Amino acid sequence: MSLVFAGVCSHGPGITARSERAAPESKLKIDAAYARMREAIRAARPDALLVVSAEHFANFFMNNMPSFAVGMADYYDGPIEDPEWLRIPRRRVPGAKALARELLATMMQDVDVAFCEEWKFDHGMMVPLHLLLPDNDLPVIPVNINCQAAPLPPLARVHALGQAIRKACDASDKRIAVLGTGGISHWPCTPDSGRINADWDREFLARWARNERSALLDYTDADTYRDGGQGGFEIRTYIAVAAAAAECQGEIWCYEPVPAFACGCTVAAMSMA
Ligand SMILES: [Fe+2]
Repeated sequence: MSLVFAGVCSHGPGITARSERAAPESKLKIDAAYARMREAIRAARPDALLVVSAEHFANFFMNNMPSFAVGMADYYDGPIEDPEWLRIPRRRVPGAKALARELLATMMQDVDVAFCEEWKFDHGMMVPLHLLLPDNDLPVIPVNINCQAAPLPPLARVHALGQAIRKACDASDKRIAVLGTGGISHWPCTPDSGRINADWDREFLARWARNERSALLDYTDADTYRDGGQGGFEIRTYIAVAAAAAECQGEIWCYEPVPAFACGCTVAAMSMA
């Protein structure tokens, strides 16, 4: 089969941990957008959800930092954070080990990726999964892009990763949904936490929706750090999804800057042909 859904969303822990601190009208829009995506994923009838996220020193550390990693396990436990703080109960997320291995074999034709048989999910995975798969009833294949520790993978290589994901989906007889989670501008765990550069975010989302490769890759890490903070490096997850759906254009379902969530809350999807 192939790719049956491609979308992106925010994963800031404040979305669940401090949900009541958004303005009521923003909260309504954000909740409605996640609900819309929940239904869109269900309507696409996927066999698995491949989640491209930016891990945050929960599994990968400076002793060994892969640019790209794919989970190949029977299950994943999360959240690694305090469930009471994150307001997400711990659960065991089903994996898709055989399918992950199959996809990896195709991806490796074009991109070098690490693979992992152990992986604990942090908020980067668990906030979207909690909101989008409340019944925990769809196998998940995690993909991590190093958005954390320099040297970061170049955006062109991230785009190539997305193309490799698509090629692997096309080669599989399974129906696969792809979700990118992260960014856009944010300054987590710094004195600037809560700062949001909405203009920069909107410009990036416009480029994402046009799915114009050259415009998406036209960011230097120095520019991103200046305009989008260190959290802005997570644009990589969105770029990978855009590359996986290269022939599609996107639609922004929600963009609500919420300082209490420390991010511009984004939910967006590619229009699948
Ligand atoms: Fe993040």
